Amino acid sequence: MVCLGNICRSPLAHGILESKVEESKIFVDSAGTSGYHAGELPDSRSIAVAKKNNIDITNQRSRKFVSDDFDNFDLIYVMDESNYHNVISLAKNKEQRDKVHLILNELYPFENKEVPDPYYGGKSGFDNVFEMLDKSCEIIASKLNTYE
Ligand code: 4NP
Repeated sequence: MVCLGNICRSPLAHGILESKVEESKIFVDSAGTSGYHAGELPDSRSIAVAKKNNIDITNQRSRKFVSDDFDNFDLIYVMDESNYHNVISLAKNKEQRDKVHLILNELYPFENKEVPDPYYGGKSGFDNVFEMLDKSCEIIASKLNTYE
């Protein structure tokens, strides 16, 4: 799960997907295309909305997306077009580019909708982001949980 800062959107997506898959089979992680907040906890508003939904994301720390992530992960979900271009710019070949997907295309196929960045907004932005990520992760988890 990748966003810009790895403190608002992708930590939520990370925690939500982790809560829906078998952790012994599927490894979920998140990162930011920037290193602005590297080493930091998720934003307190993301921690709060996750907690309200019985998900603890306080074990997470922000880190920057690196090109090795293409080798270590099968699927890379990004939140918006800007993340998409930043991640794709680090890909070495088509196989790596094909791993990258806008997360809302799971919910709204081919529409290329973006998860809005809630960083500069109010608390309601985080509730809205939680809801769209929860629906998308439900679809992702239902596909992943069919793998042996
Ligand atoms: P995120 O939100 O990409 O969802 O983690 C942001 C967090 C921090 C900044 C931008 C977006 N920032 O510019 O510091």
